[in-house]
Amino acid sequence: MAFQHMLFEVANGIATVTFNRPKALNALNAELLAEFGQALAEIDADEAIRVLVLTGSGDKAFVAGADITELATFNALQGKQFARTGQTVISRIQELSIPAIAAVNGYALGGGMEIALACDFIYAAENAMFGLPEITLGIIPGFGGTQRLPRLIGQNMAKEMIFTGKMIPAQEALRLGIANRVCPPDQLLPEVLKTAGQIASRGKVALRAAKQAVNRGLNVDLASGCHIENDAFALCMASADAREGTTAFLEKRKPVFKGSLNG
Ligand code: CAA
Repeated sequence: MAFQHMLFEVANGIATVTFNRPKALNALNAELLAEFGQALAEIDADEAIRVLVLTGSGDKAFVAGADITELATFNALQGKQFARTGQTVISRIQELSIPAIAAVNGYALGGGMEIALACDFIYAAENAMFGLPEITLGIIPGFGGTQRLPRLIGQNMAKEMIFTGKMIPAQEALRLGIANRVCPPDQLLPEVLKTAGQIASRGKVALRAAKQAVNRGLNVDLASGCHIENDAFALCMASADAREGTTAFLEKRKPVFKGSLNG
């Protein structure tokens, strides 16, 4: 896949998308959003891809938000449409059947932080800065930030970030549970790829079931969540991957997962 504003590569079952508009700190314009949406659809359809990694080009930014030069021209209707497209594309990260990891290598602001929040987890470089600065522009987060951040760190911490628009450094993001790990900048991608490699070696059926069970369960009460888990568990038990995993354990060898339900 070749794109104008993104780099895309697949190696060892890991797809890496690099947002690539370094002169604008990888800001999201409508073209980039459309390309990203297309890439996500193709990634989801590709059985060989087991993990998605998102990062930004250059050493300064992951993504510095929606492109403000475009935003400045929108009326209410255009703004609504742009934000709806952004919400839809970014929700697709969460809905992917495979895990997605954000490698935040600098500024993750506005729409950039919202992309990272839709990933399954985040590793950050020591120089990363997170924030939802939309309020400083007279607007609010439009790509799901008012919804995902409170669910992740609690409403009061999220409201403070959203109301002030202040940025927080990587260590603070770690403390708040936004980032799972903070790495020296040159170690960020190697560390993310190491974890992605571990995940890629697991069974795809079980990965999908685990991601869906956690995501769906978070929207319902505990008893309903346990029913969701139970159905997902049964699906795994019916899979060839489960037969391979349990047999390999008993035969004292490493499993070779095909990522399939049957045969
Ligand atoms: N949109 C368009 N261009 C952007 C941009 C953005 N979000 N962020 C940075 N740029 C551009 C700058 O205009 C500048 O371009 P020029 O060289 O042509 O002047 C270039 O990238 C480098 O940026 P700075 O010179 O500003 O770099 P800095 O180191 O001084 O500051 C920064 C870095 C703090 C990230 C600052 O650029 C900044 O505050 N950017 C805007 C961040 C922001 O407000 N993001 C939210 C956008 S709204 C949104 O995302 C809504 C939503 O929920 C969907």
